[in-house]
Amino acid sequence: MSTLLVVGGSGFIGRDVCRFAVRDGHEVRSVSRGGRPDVGEEWAEAVSWTSADLFRPNAWRDRLDAGVLTALEAERAGVDGFVFLSAAANPPGVRNAHLTAKRRVEASIADLDLDAVVLRPGPVYGEGQPHLPGVADRVLRFVASAPPLASRLGELRPLAVGTVARAAYRAALDPGERLLDVSDIRDLAD
Ligand SMILES: NC(=O)c1ccc[n+]([C@@H]2O[C@H](COP(=O)([O-])OP(=O)(O)OC[C@H]3O[C@@H](n4cnc5c(N)ncnc54)[C@H](OP(=O)(O)O)[C@@H]3O)[C@@H](O)[C@H]2O)c1
Repeated sequence: MSTLLVVGGSGFIGRDVCRFAVRDGHEVRSVSRGGRPDVGEEWAEAVSWTSADLFRPNAWRDRLDAGVLTALEAERAGVDGFVFLSAAANPPGVRNAHLTAKRRVEASIADLDLDAVVLRPGPVYGEGQPHLPGVADRVLRFVASAPPLASRLGELRPLAVGTVARAAYRAALDPGERLLDVSDIRDLAD
Protein backbone atom coordinates (compact mmCIF):
# COMPACT_ATOMS: atom_id res chain seq x y z
CA MET A 1 0.00 0.00 0.00
CA SER A 2 1.14 3.54 -0.71
CA THR A 3 0.79 6.93 0.88
CA LEU A 4 -0.87 9.48 -1.36
CA LEU A 5 -0.71 13.21 -0.72
CA VAL A 6 -3.53 14.87 -2.63
CA VAL A 7 -2.98 18.60 -2.83
CA GLY A 8 -6.51 19.91 -3.22
CA GLY A 9 -8.08 16.67 -2.03
CA SER A 10 -11.16 18.61 -0.92
CA GLY A 11 -11.83 19.85 -4.48
CA PHE A 12 -14.10 18.61 -7.25
CA ILE A 13 -11.62 16.14 -8.79
CA GLY A 14 -9.40 15.71 -5.70
CA ARG A 15 -12.27 14.31 -3.66
CA ASP A 16 -12.78 11.46 -6.08
CA VAL A 17 -9.03 10.76 -6.10
CA CYS A 18 -9.16 10.47 -2.29
CA ARG A 19 -12.24 8.27 -2.43
CA PHE A 20 -10.66 5.81 -4.89
CA ALA A 21 -7.42 5.65 -2.92
CA VAL A 22 -9.19 5.05 0.42
CA ARG A 23 -11.34 2.36 -1.15
CA ASP A 24 -8.18 0.53 -2.22
CA GLY A 25 -6.70 0.76 1.26
CA HIS A 26 -4.00 3.38 0.74
CA GLU A 27 -3.02 5.96 3.31
CA VAL A 28 -4.40 9.27 2.05
CA ARG A 29 -3.54 12.80 3.12
CA SER A 30 -5.03 15.97 1.73
CA VAL A 31 -3.80 19.54 1.94
CA SER A 32 -6.08 22.47 1.16
CA ARG A 33 -6.82 25.81 2.77
CA GLY A 34 -10.29 24.75 3.90
CA GLY A 35 -9.22 21.33 5.20
CA ARG A 36 -11.92 18.72 5.45
CA PRO A 37 -14.81 19.36 3.06
CA ASP A 38 -18.41 19.05 4.12
CA VAL A 39 -18.95 15.42 3.12
CA GLY A 40 -20.57 12.89 5.42
CA GLU A 41 -19.40 9.82 3.52
CA GLU A 42 -17.40 7.10 5.20
CA TRP A 43 -14.26 7.40 3.03
CA ALA A 44 -13.76 10.96 4.31
CA GLU A 45 -13.13 9.59 7.83
CA ALA A 46 -10.09 7.71 6.56
CA VAL A 47 -8.41 10.76 5.01
CA SER A 48 -6.00 12.84 7.04
CA TRP A 49 -7.19 16.39 6.24
CA THR A 50 -4.75 19.23 6.73
CA SER A 51 -5.62 22.92 6.47
CA ALA A 52 -2.72 24.79 4.92
CA ASP A 53 -2.14 27.37 2.26
CA LEU A 54 0.58 26.25 -0.10
CA PHE A 55 1.72 29.82 -0.45
CA ARG A 56 2.09 30.68 3.18
CA PRO A 57 5.35 29.12 4.40
CA ASN A 58 7.67 31.65 2.78
CA ALA A 59 6.89 34.98 1.23
CA TRP A 60 8.83 34.25 -1.97
CA ARG A 61 6.74 31.23 -2.69
CA ASP A 62 3.68 33.24 -3.53
CA ARG A 63 5.39 34.19 -6.76
CA LEU A 64 5.48 30.60 -7.87
CA ASP A 65 2.60 28.77 -9.38
CA ALA A 66 1.05 26.28 -6.94
CA GLY A 67 1.93 23.44 -9.31
CA VAL A 68 5.62 24.36 -9.38
CA LEU A 69 5.74 24.82 -5.64
CA THR A 70 4.11 21.47 -5.00
CA ALA A 71 6.47 19.73 -7.42
CA LEU A 72 9.52 21.33 -5.80
CA GLU A 73 8.38 20.20 -2.37
CA ALA A 74 7.66 16.73 -3.71
CA GLU A 75 11.13 16.51 -5.24
CA ARG A 76 12.68 17.67 -1.98
CA ALA A 77 10.71 15.09 -0.02
CA GLY A 78 11.84 12.35 -2.41
CA VAL A 79 8.35 11.15 -3.27
CA ASP A 80 8.05 8.18 -5.61
CA GLY A 81 5.72 9.85 -8.05
CA PHE A 82 4.01 13.11 -8.82
CA VAL A 83 0.82 13.76 -10.77
CA PHE A 84 -0.05 17.20 -12.08
CA LEU A 85 -3.59 18.01 -13.22
CA SER A 86 -3.07 20.33 -16.12
CA ALA A 87 -5.65 21.17 -18.78
CA ALA A 88 -6.11 20.74 -22.52
CA ALA A 89 -7.51 24.21 -23.07
CA ASN A 90 -8.66 27.35 -21.35
CA PRO A 91 -12.09 27.01 -19.76
CA PRO A 92 -14.65 29.26 -21.51
CA GLY A 93 -14.36 32.86 -20.38
CA VAL A 94 -11.04 32.31 -18.62
CA ARG A 95 -7.99 34.37 -19.55
CA ASN A 96 -5.32 32.79 -21.70
CA ALA A 97 -2.95 33.18 -18.79
CA HIS A 98 -4.56 30.09 -17.26
CA LEU A 99 -3.25 27.79 -19.98
CA THR A 100 0.07 29.61 -20.17
CA ALA A 101 0.54 28.97 -16.45
CA LYS A 102 -0.32 25.30 -16.88
CA ARG A 103 2.23 24.90 -19.65
CA ARG A 104 4.85 26.69 -17.56
CA VAL A 105 4.29 24.27 -14.70
CA GLU A 106 4.55 21.32 -17.07
CA ALA A 107 7.91 22.61 -18.35
CA SER A 108 9.21 23.19 -14.82
CA ILE A 109 8.20 19.73 -13.68
CA ALA A 110 10.02 18.16 -16.62
CA ASP A 111 13.29 19.59 -15.27
CA LEU A 112 12.90 18.07 -11.81
CA ASP A 113 14.32 14.82 -10.56
CA LEU A 114 10.88 13.30 -10.20
CA ASP A 115 8.74 10.65 -11.87
CA ALA A 116 5.96 12.91 -13.05
CA VAL A 117 2.73 12.37 -14.91
CA VAL A 118 0.87 15.27 -16.46
CA LEU A 119 -2.85 14.92 -17.21
CA ARG A 120 -4.45 17.25 -19.73
CA PRO A 121 -8.23 16.82 -19.45
CA GLY A 122 -10.69 19.01 -21.31
CA PRO A 123 -13.87 20.09 -19.53
CA VAL A 124 -14.82 17.89 -16.58
CA TYR A 125 -18.44 17.34 -15.56
CA GLY A 126 -20.06 15.71 -12.58
CA GLU A 127 -22.05 16.26 -9.46
CA GLY A 128 -20.77 19.21 -7.52
CA GLN A 129 -18.84 20.79 -10.44
CA PRO A 130 -18.04 24.13 -8.80
CA HIS A 131 -16.94 26.08 -11.85
CA LEU A 132 -19.93 25.72 -14.20
CA PRO A 133 -23.64 26.47 -13.97
CA GLY A 134 -25.80 23.34 -13.71
CA VAL A 135 -27.06 23.69 -17.27
CA ALA A 136 -23.51 23.69 -18.69
CA ASP A 137 -22.70 20.62 -16.64
CA ARG A 138 -25.78 18.87 -18.10
CA VAL A 139 -24.78 19.83 -21.65
CA LEU A 140 -21.29 18.35 -21.10
CA ARG A 141 -22.84 15.18 -19.71
CA PHE A 142 -25.14 14.93 -22.74
CA VAL A 143 -22.29 15.45 -25.21
CA ALA A 144 -20.21 12.80 -23.44
CA SER A 145 -23.09 10.34 -23.71
CA ALA A 146 -23.13 10.70 -27.52
CA PRO A 147 -19.79 9.18 -28.63
CA PRO A 148 -19.94 10.31 -32.29
CA LEU A 149 -20.40 13.87 -31.13
CA ALA A 150 -17.93 13.64 -28.25
CA SER A 151 -15.14 12.14 -30.34
CA ARG A 152 -15.38 15.03 -32.82
CA LEU A 153 -14.42 17.40 -30.04
CA GLY A 154 -10.95 15.89 -29.74
CA GLU A 155 -9.07 17.50 -26.86
CA LEU A 156 -12.24 19.25 -25.75
CA ARG A 157 -14.13 16.01 -25.27
CA PRO A 158 -15.88 16.26 -21.88
CA LEU A 159 -14.82 13.73 -19.26
CA ALA A 160 -16.64 12.60 -16.13
CA VAL A 161 -15.01 13.63 -12.86
CA GLY A 162 -14.67 9.96 -11.90
CA THR A 163 -12.76 9.23 -15.12
CA VAL A 164 -10.23 11.98 -14.52
CA ALA A 165 -9.86 11.15 -10.84
CA ARG A 166 -9.40 7.43 -11.53
CA ALA A 167 -6.73 8.16 -14.14
CA ALA A 168 -4.94 10.55 -11.76
CA TYR A 169 -5.07 7.98 -8.99
CA ARG A 170 -3.75 5.17 -11.20
CA ALA A 171 -1.00 7.42 -12.52
CA ALA A 172 0.04 8.18 -8.93
CA LEU A 173 0.44 4.47 -8.22
CA ASP A 174 2.41 3.87 -11.42
CA PRO A 175 4.21 7.10 -12.22
CA GLY A 176 6.70 7.71 -14.99
CA GLU A 177 7.41 10.63 -17.20
CA ARG A 178 4.24 10.78 -19.19
CA LEU A 179 1.92 13.28 -20.75
CA LEU A 180 -1.65 12.02 -20.90
CA ASP A 181 -4.11 13.64 -23.29
CA VAL A 182 -7.86 13.15 -23.22
CA SER A 183 -7.86 9.76 -24.94
CA ASP A 184 -4.95 8.54 -22.78
CA ILE A 185 -6.90 9.59 -19.68
CA ARG A 186 -9.92 7.60 -20.87
CA ASP A 187 -7.75 4.55 -21.57
CA LEU A 188 -6.04 4.69 -18.18
CA ALA A 189 -9.35 5.09 -16.35
CA ASP A 190 -11.02 2.16 -18.13
N1 LIG B 1 -12.95 21.09 -13.36
C1 LIG B 1 -12.60 21.06 -14.65
O1 LIG B 1 -13.46 21.12 -15.57
C2 LIG B 1 -11.13 20.94 -15.04
C3 LIG B 1 -10.82 20.75 -16.41
C4 LIG B 1 -9.46 20.62 -16.78
C5 LIG B 1 -8.47 20.72 -15.79
N2 LIG B 1 -8.81 20.93 -14.48
C6 LIG B 1 -7.72 21.06 -13.50
O2 LIG B 1 -7.86 20.10 -12.46
C7 LIG B 1 -7.39 20.64 -11.21
C8 LIG B 1 -8.46 20.47 -10.13
O3 LIG B 1 -9.65 21.10 -10.61
P1 LIG B 1 -10.98 21.11 -9.72
O4 LIG B 1 -12.10 21.44 -10.66
O5 LIG B 1 -11.06 19.87 -8.87
O6 LIG B 1 -10.70 22.38 -8.80
P2 LIG B 1 -11.36 22.80 -7.36
O7 LIG B 1 -12.67 22.08 -7.15
O8 LIG B 1 -11.39 24.29 -7.35
O9 LIG B 1 -10.33 22.26 -6.29
C9 LIG B 1 -9.12 22.92 -6.03
C10 LIG B 1 -8.53 22.35 -4.76
O10 LIG B 1 -7.26 22.98 -4.46
C11 LIG B 1 -7.30 23.56 -3.15
N3 LIG B 1 -6.47 24.77 -3.17
C12 LIG B 1 -6.59 25.88 -3.95
N4 LIG B 1 -5.66 26.81 -3.63
C13 LIG B 1 -4.91 26.28 -2.62
C14 LIG B 1 -3.80 26.76 -1.85
N5 LIG B 1 -3.28 27.97 -2.06
N6 LIG B 1 -3.29 25.96 -0.89
C15 LIG B 1 -3.82 24.72 -0.68
N7 LIG B 1 -4.86 24.20 -1.38
C16 LIG B 1 -5.41 24.99 -2.33
C17 LIG B 1 -8.80 23.84 -2.93
O11 LIG B 1 -9.16 23.89 -1.53
P3 LIG B 1 -9.18 25.29 -0.72
O12 LIG B 1 -9.86 26.31 -1.61
O13 LIG B 1 -9.91 24.98 0.54
O14 LIG B 1 -7.73 25.64 -0.48
C18 LIG B 1 -9.42 22.58 -3.55
O15 LIG B 1 -9.32 21.48 -2.66
C19 LIG B 1 -7.04 22.10 -11.48
O16 LIG B 1 -5.64 22.19 -11.66
C20 LIG B 1 -7.78 22.42 -12.79
O17 LIG B 1 -7.13 23.43 -13.54
C21 LIG B 1 -10.12 21.04 -14.07
